Amino acid sequence: MRRQLIAGNWKMNGFRAEGTALAREIVDHVGLGKPAEVLICPPATLLLPIADIVADRPVLLGAQDCHRAKGGAFTGDISAPMLKDAGCSHVIVGHSERRALHGETNADVRAKATAALANGLSVILCVGETEAERDAGHARAIVATQLEASVPPAATPATLTIAYEPIWAIGTGWTPSCDDIDAIHRHIREVMGSLMAGGTDGRILYGGSVKALNAAELLAIPDVDGALVGGASLSYQDFAAIIDAARG
Ligand code: PGA
Repeated sequence: MRRQLIAGNWKMNGFRAEGTALAREIVDHVGLGKPAEVLICPPATLLLPIADIVADRPVLLGAQDCHRAKGGAFTGDISAPMLKDAGCSHVIVGHSERRALHGETNADVRAKATAALANGLSVILCVGETEAERDAGHARAIVATQLEASVPPAATPATLTIAYEPIWAIGTGWTPSCDDIDAIHRHIREVMGSLMAGGTDGRILYGGSVKALNAAELLAIPDVDGALVGGASLSYQDFAAIIDAARG
């Protein structure tokens, strides 16, 4: 059994006082001993203070994006080595909000993931279909294309985690049925097996409206190896309940 990973994506939310307080609460909760691994991905402004809070504690720190280059004239961007230097072990790439709002392509996502891996960061690579693509019966094909075009050659099951996030489920309160999630996760696992040695052994998270109330059901799906949690990761009670719903 793969150990489940519960990852909180805070998106563009959190100021210093409440963000560091939330990180402290999560660290204390996880410190009580939990079967799952826990990762928090605050906005870039909070990485350094939260790096101090999670240091030597069983909570991992990740960023929400990185640039493909090591450094240079890229105003407003943050490179993978900078994230590593700030204390991150992980970075999310290819989130649908970045694909949609920043025009990121599969090739961009691959370049970012490559930069992250080259700098010692583990990658959470997001894929997922729109509602229209799902209604047209294209979800599996879309996800396979995203994986084939964005998983970097250097990735291994240990350094790359896939997050399946149907776009229509993000922030909407809707989720696919457990059977649908199970089927697409098995499909993703098959595609990953064709893309890298041992690819079928990698972790696949589900993301999209994971809440305290549905976490146990979603995390019990055999091929779900954890959750990427947006809105509910901003509440200590909700995120703690999701952590507690995970299996080891
Ligand atoms: P949500 O977001 O949990 O608020 O639906 C998930 C995500 O965007 O990663």
